[in-house]
Amino acid sequence: MKQIAPSILSADGSRLGEEIAAVEAAGADLIHIDVMDGHFVPNLTIGPGLIASLRKTTRLPFDVHLMIENPERYIDAFAKAGSDRITVHTEASIHLHRIISMIREKGIRAGVSLNPATPLAQVEPILPDIDLLLVMTVNPGFGGQKFIGGMLPKIAQAKKMIMAVAPEVFLEVDGGVTLKNILSIADAGADILVAGASIFGSGNYPETIGAMRALLTAPTVSV
Ligand code: DX5
Ligand code: ZN
Repeated sequence: MKQIAPSILSADGSRLGEEIAAVEAAGADLIHIDVMDGHFVPNLTIGPGLIASLRKTTRLPFDVHLMIENPERYIDAFAKAGSDRITVHTEASIHLHRIISMIREKGIRAGVSLNPATPLAQVEPILPDIDLLLVMTVNPGFGGQKFIGGMLPKIAQAKKMIMAVAPEVFLEVDGGVTLKNILSIADAGADILVAGASIFGSGNYPETIGAMRALLTAPTVSV
């Protein structure tokens, strides 16, 4: 089943616990947490301390997306904070395979993310050793950006590559996912759909997540 992962980057930061509870009640599958260091991306967000506090507010898995340089320095801290999945960027990881092994040794699912301009070939050799591949469909750093249309063929290509090499790997898509494009992104092969502004900016989480779920589960009509 396809999964919906609200990104709390666009939530009301003064009420993060309540916001997480609200999207959980509205039917979210995962909580996507964007960690930014002001170096790899031109923005700063949260660290392991806050994640550890938020861990007490929900039973949903924490899908932690590290947009940071030298992620190997922080795997232990994010594991201890209660991450269920940790995704690192291939562009920020010199020894990517070693970092993936570090994550998995903690019993945590390991993900690798690619910026829009990074070719899929860069991760093909390590696909059998990861649990999820995250394809960025905006340039990382900010919520509320527009989906880069040229990424749809990349998503389809990523799915094809996964099915050929390591079919158990989940394909996650992050950036600019809305009610208007979620179906075409899912049809291209995404298993996990991250959505920040389109959920937290909607004013009605059950309605928005419900509408997304309906699109993702509707049977295909053949004529
Ligand atoms: C961008 C982050 C995304 C972002 C998605 O750097 O990785 O997770 O929050 O937000 P929307 O859905 O608003 O593009
Ligand atoms: Zn993200």
